[in-house]
Amino acid sequence: MADKVKATNITWHHADITKDDREKQNGHKAVVIWFTGLSGSGKSTLAHAVENALFDAGCRTFVLDGDNIRHGLNKDLGFSPEDREENIRRIGEVAHLFTQAGVIAMTAFISPYRADRDKARAIAGEGNFFEVYVKCALDVCEQRDPKGLYKKARAGQIPEFTGISAPYEEPDNAEIVVDTGVHSLEESAELVLGVLRDRGIIQ
Ligand code: ADX
Repeated sequence: MADKVKATNITWHHADITKDDREKQNGHKAVVIWFTGLSGSGKSTLAHAVENALFDAGCRTFVLDGDNIRHGLNKDLGFSPEDREENIRRIGEVAHLFTQAGVIAMTAFISPYRADRDKARAIAGEGNFFEVYVKCALDVCEQRDPKGLYKKARAGQIPEFTGISAPYEEPDNAEIVVDTGVHSLEESAELVLGVLRDRGIIQ
């Protein structure tokens, strides 16, 4: 699905206002912060904690969340490897568009396949993509089970459930690794913010 190109005879139109112009106006760089990890690992919670801090500091931000996006833009996609690939491809493109608009785009998707995450990284461009591995042991995620999905998956009611009957490929080149089973939410958010400061993304 992802490799099909049907759009032909199209020409790129360049905007007068560049990403650089927008970044200068906003006073910060616009990058993709890509949170990846098992369901229940705390991706969305952490992304929103980081967003709250960035917003309070006057940054332009937005969180793209897996469950939310699957209510709209990606409601035609399920959880087969092909559909997950397309899910992540679209979000890689959307997150990139947000950065072109000068916004710090945070994504909270399981994004279980390394190759798909690397494609999102390539779309954003090196230096514009911060992969955050929200690490949390499967048994901890399963104990949390905030949506009751692990229980259903164990009972065989949800096929292809990540960590149970579908794979999760751990990142090997994440810019940031956060263990939410060990660190508090505040500590985890500060870890991410610290890297953004060190890299000159925010002041
Ligand atoms: S991804 O694998 O394609 O990146 P995504 O982050 O969009 O997944 O959606 C994951 C969310 O969908 C989970 O947090 C959970 O609420 C729900 N979900 C429903 N079915 C599944 C499934 N088979 N595997 C994983 N998550 C599922």
